[in-house]
Amino acid sequence: MSVVRVCFVCLGNICRSPTAEAVFVRDVSNAGLSSRFRIDSAGTGDWHVGQHAHPETRRTAQARGVPITHLARQFVAHDFDAFDVILVMDRSNHRNVLALAPDEAARAKVHCFRDFEAGTEPMTEVPDPYHVGGFDEVFDICERASRGLLAHLVRTHELTAWSG
Ligand code: 4NP
Repeated sequence: MSVVRVCFVCLGNICRSPTAEAVFVRDVSNAGLSSRFRIDSAGTGDWHVGQHAHPETRRTAQARGVPITHLARQFVAHDFDAFDVILVMDRSNHRNVLALAPDEAARAKVHCFRDFEAGTEPMTEVPDPYHVGGFDEVFDICERASRGLLAHLVRTHELTAWSG
């Protein structure tokens, strides 16, 4: 049974991408598809490697019933082998991730997360809450984009809860 390997990427891997990861894990689980996915997140920067998610990120997610246990790690070129789908939160993540891509096949794995959110313009960013706040908004965005992403992957990978 094939597994779809999905990695969410932001700058610090302590606010946006751990939220996206946790929301997507919940949605996949609710769809009965946990065995069909490997889900992770990473940051393009290394400042917070090994740290828990930002306290406000964890508090916001916990309040919505989505615990975040991820420890920050840095995105590395090997992640292009380890993952099939790489979702970036903003244009700067997009540039930094593409700079590590070894070839066109790797570049084709990289998508803007909000491109899966219904009604958004291409390359709409998940706003960075680290300095200015907006953790609830980030969570709301992740919920909308996660729903669209899961629907897309179920369609393109012909996944159903009872297959395999
Ligand atoms: P994130 O937020 O990329 O959503 O995890 C940030 C976390 C840390 C920093 C910037 C953004 N920082 O500059 O340390």
